[in-house]
Amino acid sequence: MDVDLWVHSAAQLCIVPPSPEGPQRGRRLGELGLISDGAVAIKDGIVVASGPTDEVGGQLDAIAVEIDARGKVVAPGFVDPHTHLVWMGDRAAEFEQRVAGATYLEIMAAGGGIMATVRATRAAPVAELVDAMRPRLDRMLAHGATTVEVKTGYGLDTEAELRQLEAIVTLDRQHPVALVPTFLGAHAIPVEFRECPEAYVMLVIEEMLPAVADKARALGLARLPFCDVFCEASAFDLDQSRRILEAARALGFPLKIHVDEFEPLGGARLATELGAVSADHLVCTPPEEIARFGEVDTVAVSLPCTPFGLGHHAYTPAQAFLDAGAALALATDCNPGTAWNESLPFVMALASRYLRLTPAQALAASTLNAAYALELGDRAGSLAVGYAGDLVILDLPDYRQLAYRFGTNPVEKVIKAGKVVVDRSVAHD
Ligand code: NIG
Ligand code: FE
Repeated sequence: MDVDLWVHSAAQLCIVPPSPEGPQRGRRLGELGLISDGAVAIKDGIVVASGPTDEVGGQLDAIAVEIDARGKVVAPGFVDPHTHLVWMGDRAAEFEQRVAGATYLEIMAAGGGIMATVRATRAAPVAELVDAMRPRLDRMLAHGATTVEVKTGYGLDTEAELRQLEAIVTLDRQHPVALVPTFLGAHAIPVEFRECPEAYVMLVIEEMLPAVADKARALGLARLPFCDVFCEASAFDLDQSRRILEAARALGFPLKIHVDEFEPLGGARLATELGAVSADHLVCTPPEEIARFGEVDTVAVSLPCTPFGLGHHAYTPAQAFLDAGAALALATDCNPGTAWNESLPFVMALASRYLRLTPAQALAASTLNAAYALELGDRAGSLAVGYAGDLVILDLPDYRQLAYRFGTNPVEKVIKAGKVVVDRSVAHD
């Protein structure tokens, strides 16, 4: 067989195979399909062989590019299923206020928080939004992410939300990382609707959702973006969240929902009832709602950078989700308010300590299961044959060092669809 790329002799190859039911659910999480002296061959952007170096090598004829991964770990490219990368400005002043004792919700109630970023972002034209996002995405790629979800949500009026969607789609077409767009018009009630939140909910349902669907078609997207809602006491209540998500579902949007970040409102149950693709945050989810995740396809996405970034001590009760048989995934939540972090390896390091995931579980939750949180679990997040040829070569001799070490970047090379897009083999920071 002729191939475009052959990576061979890896100290450890982590295939992260899908389980018979797809994602690695419950206690099955962490199956890496680990192979020492492993190899992967890629043709036309797709994995055509993976396994022991001698077996894979024996099948190959012409090889365009060969990489010797001796002493290194090879793993699927990381998948980040929850980010808010489209923003202007920063919230360093709020960070200082929080360090001095103000809470995130107090700052939000006083008109800061998400609204502060909306004020900075709303008027920006598409090109400026793209320019603001690009270096963030470059850093995510340098830390091993090859597929990244990005939410709108700092526009909160129809035109600004559409510009943010267009910026995500534009950058996707320019950048090696594959971007998955999400419409999050229901991120906060904008100040101009403070006296009448209901009018904003109706605007989202009646004007924004159809406009986003039209825009997605005009931009040539093969499928509608996800629709997400921030279901939280100071944002959208359970009834408003339900109405927005039901309207979105009726238009054909796949669903996501931010739930139980600060207070439990029943949003996790709503996610499982509506067949949302994922429910995200899940810090204070009640046990009876956690149990539901064992019975449905909704992926439970934990965002450990968010409590860490806020200096909080409560994290997703991940062991209870695994006991329930849930499909658990991890993401950065990269945003300027709670968690400006562009590194999935750092998320894995936090998840091992505060969610008590083993390094293998953290890796599978940041690859295969994260791809399932984007409905991409049949094509990304694994190095099984037929999956996308997206992989990372880590300058580590043992995959467990990925979660064990933190604060430096372990990624040496990133390969997207069979092409080397990052090579840091000379630069180490
Ligand atoms: O996921 N919770 C809502 N959205 C973000 C925070 C966004 C912001 O503060 O700007 C989150 O934590
Ligand atoms: Fe978020």
